[in-house]
Amino acid sequence: MNAIRHHFSPLQRLLHWVMAICILAMLFIGVGMVSTIMPKYVPLVSIHKTLGAVILVLALIRLVTRFYYGAPPLPADLPEPMKLAAELSHYALYALMIGMPLLGWGMLSASAYPVELYGGIYLPAILPQSDSLRTLLWNAHFYLAFAFFALILMHVAAALFHALVRHDGVFDAMAPVPIHDEATRVEYKAAE
Ligand code: HEM
Ligand code: HEM
Repeated sequence: MNAIRHHFSPLQRLLHWVMAICILAMLFIGVGMVSTIMPKYVPLVSIHKTLGAVILVLALIRLVTRFYYGAPPLPADLPEPMKLAAELSHYALYALMIGMPLLGWGMLSASAYPVELYGGIYLPAILPQSDSLRTLLWNAHFYLAFAFFALILMHVAAALFHALVRHDGVFDAMAPVPIHDEATRVEYKAAE
């Protein structure tokens, strides 16, 4: 008999929480750096590019672990539209975790700007120099950053709804340390 997994693997949970901190930091660093005319613009951009590259690498590792380990099933009694919303929003979060760094890298490449990270590491250009491409990618990086933020807010609201209202084990599945509360166990048994 195949045991049903109730939690994401420890590696998936570690990646989820480390990346959550990094991505939230990136959104604030991004907005902070473009709203300052102080000399700290330069180190902030450098941190932004470096952390963005780290996020890209972690997101790709995370994608591999997602294919390898899969995900625990959602509770059987969760209404179908909520299951669909969860699935679609997870696809969108993955797309943004990978897409945002690529857009940032692409827009600097299209501006023929050297993409220099912390420690003097240079990333190669991934696109040819082009003003129209640069504008397009810059706009995409700008607007998708806000869409990312909005999606994260909805994602956090949904996580809190599962944890505080439904007590259905969905939060426990991704909790940094498994919580194993009694209500959760009862729900899972019912779902099995
Ligand atoms: C998850 C990854 C990323 C997120 C969430 C993110 C988010 C942001 C945000 C919120 C802004 C400010 C937009 C504005 O208000 O104008 C921004 C600007 C910027 N980002 Fe990113 N970014 C990411 C990755 C990257 C990467 C990897 C690079 C380059 C290698 C990059 C390069 C830039 C640059 C150069 C700007 C400033 C544009 C300007 O000064 O006008 N970003 N980013
Ligand atoms: C800030 C950036 C965040 C991103 C990009 C993000 C992304 C994701 C993604 C893509 C998943 C799907 C699971 C997977 O396949 O890896 C997920 C699951 C989950 N996340 Fe987040 N997350 C973030 C923050 C948070 C926060 C702050 C919370 C809690 C308050 C949270 C709670 C959860 C929970 C409970 C699940 C499991 C949902 C399920 O099993 O369907 N996440 N997250």
